[in-house]
Amino acid sequence: MSLVRLLAVLIIVSLTFSSSLMAKEIVIKFSHVTTEKTPKGKAAKYLQELVAERLKGKVRVDVYPNSQLYNDKEVLKALLLGDVQLAAPSLSKFGKYTKKWGLFDLPFLFRDADAVSCFTTGVNGQALLNAASKKGLKGLGYWLNGMKQLSANKPLIKPSDAKGEKFRIMSSDVLEAQFKAVNANPQKMSFSEVYNALSTGVIDGQENTWSNIRTKKFFEVQSDFTESNHGVLEYVLVTSSEFWNSLPKDIQTELSAIIKEVTLKETQWALEAAQIDKDYIMIAGHTKIHRLSHKQVAQWAKVMKPVWKQFEGDIGKDNIDAALKCNKQ
Ligand code: SIN
Repeated sequence: MSLVRLLAVLIIVSLTFSSSLMAKEIVIKFSHVTTEKTPKGKAAKYLQELVAERLKGKVRVDVYPNSQLYNDKEVLKALLLGDVQLAAPSLSKFGKYTKKWGLFDLPFLFRDADAVSCFTTGVNGQALLNAASKKGLKGLGYWLNGMKQLSANKPLIKPSDAKGEKFRIMSSDVLEAQFKAVNANPQKMSFSEVYNALSTGVIDGQENTWSNIRTKKFFEVQSDFTESNHGVLEYVLVTSSEFWNSLPKDIQTELSAIIKEVTLKETQWALEAAQIDKDYIMIAGHTKIHRLSHKQVAQWAKVMKPVWKQFEGDIGKDNIDAALKCNKQ
């Protein structure tokens, strides 16, 4: 072999060898269903930014908001198939994977968002992050949205006002039982379909947070809102155990630190949105917002709370007790 040919072969071999040594960038596809202006939407972008800054060339996060890629039912299957690597669905949507997260749907369990944060950062809350591990899902952290409010095209002041009304619910058996307790007609439906269903009269009402009600414009197609704060909308930032375990240890450590930082910001954005978005809806003037007296709240709670007993076996009394303790902090 001539010297020139030998040199060429050596160069090709060394280029092939060094490029195989260069680690490939890990791409994390993060799919979610809300707009970029929500606490979750902002947190997803912030996560993307921090990863770009601190894990440049090693990891990249691509965010797909607004059900662009999947709705919440599909995204969990996609996670397990490895088609996406991150999602942050409402804990209400995991009934097929664990019954324990039904805790977050129990009506009138948490007094307010602070009580929710007390629970999620406490011993029981942290242990519950692993509730779906047997199904291959790994909870990486809790993200708050806020307390839920009721709406319909009529005032909902006492529980009997809900009788016969068709309410959209997330895919949760606890939420189904909650609306059945007031003799309403709950309908499981994905988030992306709610606006159309409300505007065409397929459903009469819904429950959601001020942030989702504003960003998805539900307030434009409902005449009456009740500030009921009867439940919480809480998310779990979730990945597949298989994907997480495939990551090098140093990347896991850096990602965990970033997630902690993003989670703190996300909570702050959620608390702010609860006030700002409610004010926006009030000022927009499309709809009436009804405040309930303590006595009226107690009437709703009395009718809905028996649902707790129905699901106590699935959820665990210890978890319910730990949540109740947080109301006293
Ligand atoms: C979300 O905030 O992710 C959607 C909640 C819903 O389905 O109502």
